[in-house]
Amino acid sequence: MIFMPETKEKELTESQPSGAQRVPAPCVMVIFGASGDLTERKLVPALYYLSRAGLLPKGFSVIGCAKTPYTSETFRDKMQQAVKKYLDVPSSDYQAVNDFTQDVHYIADDFGNPTAYDQLKSLLDHLDNQRGTGGNRLIYLATPPSFFPVIVGHLGSTGLAQPKQQGETWTRIVIEKPFGRDLTSARELNGIVNGAFKEDQVYRIDHYLGKETVQNLLVFRFGNGIFEPFWNRRYIDHVQIAVAEEIGIENRGAYYEEAGLVRDMIQNHVLSLLSLITMEPPAIFEAGAVRDEKSQVMRAIRAIPLDRPSEFAVRGQYVEGWTEGQKLPAYRAEPKVSPQSTTETYGALKLFVDNWRWADVPFYLRAGKRLPKRISEITVKFRRAPHLLFRGTGTTSIEPNHLSIHIQPDEGMSLMFNAKIPGTTMKIQPVTMNFRYEDAFGAAPQTTAYETLLLDCMLGDPMLFTRADFVDLAWELLTPLLNRWKEDGRKGLSFYEAGTWGPPEADAFIERDGRKWQEL
Ligand SMILES: NC(=O)c1ccc[n+]([C@@H]2O[C@H](COP(=O)([O-])OP(=O)(O)OC[C@H]3O[C@@H](n4cnc5c(N)ncnc54)[C@H](OP(=O)(O)O)[C@@H]3O)[C@@H](O)[C@H]2O)c1
Repeated sequence: MIFMPETKEKELTESQPSGAQRVPAPCVMVIFGASGDLTERKLVPALYYLSRAGLLPKGFSVIGCAKTPYTSETFRDKMQQAVKKYLDVPSSDYQAVNDFTQDVHYIADDFGNPTAYDQLKSLLDHLDNQRGTGGNRLIYLATPPSFFPVIVGHLGSTGLAQPKQQGETWTRIVIEKPFGRDLTSARELNGIVNGAFKEDQVYRIDHYLGKETVQNLLVFRFGNGIFEPFWNRRYIDHVQIAVAEEIGIENRGAYYEEAGLVRDMIQNHVLSLLSLITMEPPAIFEAGAVRDEKSQVMRAIRAIPLDRPSEFAVRGQYVEGWTEGQKLPAYRAEPKVSPQSTTETYGALKLFVDNWRWADVPFYLRAGKRLPKRISEITVKFRRAPHLLFRGTGTTSIEPNHLSIHIQPDEGMSLMFNAKIPGTTMKIQPVTMNFRYEDAFGAAPQTTAYETLLLDCMLGDPMLFTRADFVDLAWELLTPLLNRWKEDGRKGLSFYEAGTWGPPEADAFIERDGRKWQEL
């Protein structure tokens, strides 16, 4: 599961035990949406990393599909340009960039056109013979979500969803977020997907789960004897999860108007993080067991009381603001956004996990666009020391300890505790003990997080992917709130200046509970 770019063990194959780095069996990767942003910015650079690390199988080939009338040659050029544009590739590695795009093909057609799938089928057969790809296929849906049912339907009806030879070859499908836009549409989509593919062929991707720190959460919690004993309501006062983005909606007005912050960030990334922080230890380190525990804890999240939503949720939208002397437009002034839009670009929630471990511990989640910086962090706030021993020394209060788990941009962890300031008087000051990937392992983790996930798909390890029941539970939790917000329209929508930390109502929201947002 864990990506080790420096591995030398290329010759190992998929069938070997998981302690060693494994290389997948030969396969073809089919990318629907090959001319799009995700392919260029994430998938192609991730494939390059894998190629450089010797982790792509022999004969590995890519077939891109999209409407833009590229030829295979133009698509190859685009892939090479994408690697050079998004990764810091020295010119001495340009040959490697050329090598990695050796076997690249492109089908220019509309996803709604049956001819696209006929072409795909014959190209796949051809590559199996010519490149020895053995009938294994990784199909990636890097398309707008409205095409997920269309493509899945065609793959099902043309037989492309089925493994070429049952039991001998594999066909897996990766589905991008957002998976549905509410409980009903997610169930419908799951129905369509599971009509064509078996659940064990389906990889619903949440790229946050490919990040080193996120995977390290499991190791931190369950690979160390010292943390788990205080990972509960006795020692933890509350937990905060923050996902802040500096950017706005970047020409994705039409998508964002439909989605909004909660669908775009909280339903997937933030709830995944919450499940990893709160889940019980699985019996074994295996995809099924880990995913069972994640779903189990999702089931324990208390429904948001809709009779008093403002006690549990805040939604905000950015208005005009400034950053570094530059004027930032209001959300309502962004292209393809309604001037009366009530779509949220900021959301804060208070959730409770009603189980033995977490009873009455609040989990404060917040995420937003156009905040002062791009940062994702989990803060576990511990209870105060029960007795203020140092009262007689002029110390009137001591900061409770907290653990910060930094997910991006710098991955690592830091533990804050109190220490005596050196000198003849007893003065106390918070200090931090830091773990940074860069310091401990000599290099920051690879940047895209997609390489880990792509490799896992090729190896058939779904641990870091979202199972249908988790998606269902996440929507079950959030759909009633989203419906209520839709009904309320402008009522209850708060505003914040672009470039600030969200609406004042969000500060009041947590301060009402005698707590405050962790400074990021
Ligand atoms: N971009 C990101 O960083 C990012 C991050 C996380 C998740 N995602 C998810 O990834 C998916 C793709 O996002 P994106 O930003 O890459 O979108 P995008 O830039 O709009 O790309 C969409 C792709 O779909 C193709 N397409 C659209 N309609 C088509 C049709 N009728 N027939 C054939 N091809 C068609 C486009 O081809 P043509 O342009 O050639 O028509 C293009 O290749 C979305 O589900 C998104 O939520 C994206």
